[in-house]
Amino acid sequence: AEQGWPELHRIPHPPRRLPLLGDVLGADRHRPMQDSMRFARELGPIFRRRAFGKEFVFVWGARLVADLADDSRFAKHVGLGVANLRPLAGDGLFTAYNHEPNWQLAHDVLAPGFSREAMEGYHGMMLAVAGRLTDHWDRQLAAGRTVDVPGDMTRLTLETIARTGFGHDFDSFERERPHPFVTAMVGTLTYAQRLNTVPAPLAPLLLRAAARRNAADMAYLNRTVDGLVADRRRTGGGEGDLLDRMLATAHPETGERLSAENVRKQVITFLVAGHETTSGALSFALYHLARHPEIAARARAEVDRVWGDTPRPGYDRIAKLRYVRRVLDESLRLWPTAPAFAREARQDTALAGEHPMRRGAWALVLTPMLHREPEVWGEDAERFDPDRFAAAAVRARPPHTFKPFGTGARACIGRQFALHEATLVLGLLLRRYDLHIDPGYRLTVSERLTLMPEGLRLRLERRPALS
Ligand code: HEM
Repeated sequence: AEQGWPELHRIPHPPRRLPLLGDVLGADRHRPMQDSMRFARELGPIFRRRAFGKEFVFVWGARLVADLADDSRFAKHVGLGVANLRPLAGDGLFTAYNHEPNWQLAHDVLAPGFSREAMEGYHGMMLAVAGRLTDHWDRQLAAGRTVDVPGDMTRLTLETIARTGFGHDFDSFERERPHPFVTAMVGTLTYAQRLNTVPAPLAPLLLRAAARRNAADMAYLNRTVDGLVADRRRTGGGEGDLLDRMLATAHPETGERLSAENVRKQVITFLVAGHETTSGALSFALYHLARHPEIAARARAEVDRVWGDTPRPGYDRIAKLRYVRRVLDESLRLWPTAPAFAREARQDTALAGEHPMRRGAWALVLTPMLHREPEVWGEDAERFDPDRFAAAAVRARPPHTFKPFGTGARACIGRQFALHEATLVLGLLLRRYDLHIDPGYRLTVSERLTLMPEGLRLRLERRPALS
């Protein structure tokens, strides 16, 4: 019985198995997720890979994932990439173990920051930041330049979370290069991913230089956050934003507050989790829109119809962009930008009645493959088609087959925030520009725990302003 899976031998694995290195050698170290997708296609809905003497179980079959979504028997597992972020994010919401008291405390204190009323409060600021993006793109257009999609989406989403959540301005659009916060963040995410590709005992040796850089990156992130918190303590009130909640709100029942050390972890968590994945989601959506002019035209017609010529669509005009939202969902189906989440057994059980698991045994859910499962999405699952998210089609699908935001108690707290922001921005961009992609561009997906279309640039054409 290996690592809690008494019948592990029944789970398929790749043929060539090397001692110590296991299945890792020959794998694409820089694209572990896409590497696992390749194995998934060969090995089926559940499979395992061996690395450094350990077995890792991967799951993507719809029936199996639906079972893992049962919160009464399974819970989030903090492992692999998520666990590697613990030195940075500690018991912050994303990286906390289920049993750590700060998870429930922070969840209860911060959840109201994602209520409908809170979102309405962020809307104006989201619009203002989106305006910075279109100003920037207008300037690029005037200068005859193409635009750097992932770079600019990251500018946008970092500014959005920093301003709405923390009253902070990173001046992302005034900078030629990414803000050092972004560079340090990408550094730590990449490092956390790399740690999974070397045997733990050898990591200090193999990654010595990288570890030093990572320590410097973490120090920079911590300094930035400490500065931001100190500013708030000095100047006071952010009108009830996330930072105010972290600093001042007591738990409604216990009266407890977050400690200074925990606030630091939460601020880092929200600054990172709050922009990196949304940036990727927007970038993939723009890629697909540029590749499918007929879909872009349909989305654009909806924006024109629903928004009319109002320069500043109100909060309730965003959710009315049903088709734009489907474009976003379909993008997140093919490339869920947080491409995996892990689930562990809360008690001895059998996965889908077939694979016995001891308490604590865990599996990684491969979301991009779940989202391409032919039995659910059809033989044309690789094709981009937003109509898959038309209401009737969604109703006809079994539950737990679309999981870009994870599942259960530990699912994404920022889901509505991300969807509102991204739909708003896509609406504004579709209304303002025609998007042209270099026909020679081939989608390459880079990985740093999260996914991003690499090197995507678009040529813009200004649409005539509405009368
Ligand atoms: C958790 C995806 C945007 C904050 C998660 C999880 C996923 C996810 C899959 C669960 C991870 C796991 O089970 O280990 C995404 C995607 C986003 C997005 C795809 C954008 C398209 C956001 C935003 C925020 C945010 C905008 C904050 C403003 C968080 C936090 C958690 C989380 C704090 C941990 C929740 C908990 O465990 O209590 N996200 N997220 N995310 N996300 Fe997001």
